[in-house]
Amino acid sequence: MIETADAEPEYDDTAIRFLEALWGDGYLSPGGPDEVDRVVEGLSLAGKTILDIGCGAGGITLHLVEHHGAAHAIGFDVERPVIEVARRRAVARGLSDRVSFVQAPPGPLPFTDASFDVVFSKDALLHVPDKDALFAEIFRVLKPGGMFAASNWMISHDGEPSSEMKAYVAAEGLSFAMASPERYALAMRRAGFADVTIRDRNPWYREVARGELERLKGPLYPTVTAAVGAAYVDKNIRTWEAMQKVLDSGEHRPTHLRGRKPVG
Ligand SMILES: C[S@@+](CC[C@H](N)C(=O)[O-])C[C@H]1O[C@@H](n2cnc3c(N)ncnc32)[C@H](O)[C@@H]1O
Repeated sequence: MIETADAEPEYDDTAIRFLEALWGDGYLSPGGPDEVDRVVEGLSLAGKTILDIGCGAGGITLHLVEHHGAAHAIGFDVERPVIEVARRRAVARGLSDRVSFVQAPPGPLPFTDASFDVVFSKDALLHVPDKDALFAEIFRVLKPGGMFAASNWMISHDGEPSSEMKAYVAAEGLSFAMASPERYALAMRRAGFADVTIRDRNPWYREVARGELERLKGPLYPTVTAAVGAAYVDKNIRTWEAMQKVLDSGEHRPTHLRGRKPVG
């Protein structure tokens, strides 16, 4: 867990360079714009005000404005390096009037009640240990009738992780606080969300990750090594190999989540 804003960042400049080389400029999670579009499928974002929690390097926040017509999007993250990259990207794309990026320590969200039509998040909520507090906060900042739509890395159960899962999480070396889809849904219902739905993305990512590993070991290896060094890439190849085992077993469960804040 990241305790303060000034703790050593987990997503430092090297991590950003590595993940963007693998997943695309501005993306620190898999699937690119197509997967983001699937997360918000069927929702109308045009003219809406959106919060992107754990926005990372900002590519998705910008995509929600550029390609879904959001009126305004705020990208929020606890780490400084990602927010600095995201801000530069918004300026470069000429979107600083419709997109802003906010950095603050973990804890209560630094936004007033009922500020957003939509709260979005992509593969960031696994870093937040207290799921009940997290969804109470998301519920608070949503307007009545507002929607929550997210993708998130989960574990298939809330028991003791398998030795393969422990090995994978240790290989990542990141502050993962994984919980099951059912645990997330429970936290959402406790917070007051209605129409809570879950969509399993393991079958999709299991195959995508296999391709990522092949590209990392093969065609991407020289360019990514030039960007971050061979030791960094080799470590990540080992991490991807450990991840593939828990994707194949089904214990690693990338999942989409949806819910609605009832009116009144
Ligand atoms: C895997 S990256 C995903 C970034 C971005 N959503 C994307 O898909 O490109 C996870 C992000 O969650 C952020 N994060 C970690 N703890 C957080 C917290 N408590 N609240 C919000 N964001 C957090 C990290 O700093 C990082 O930028």
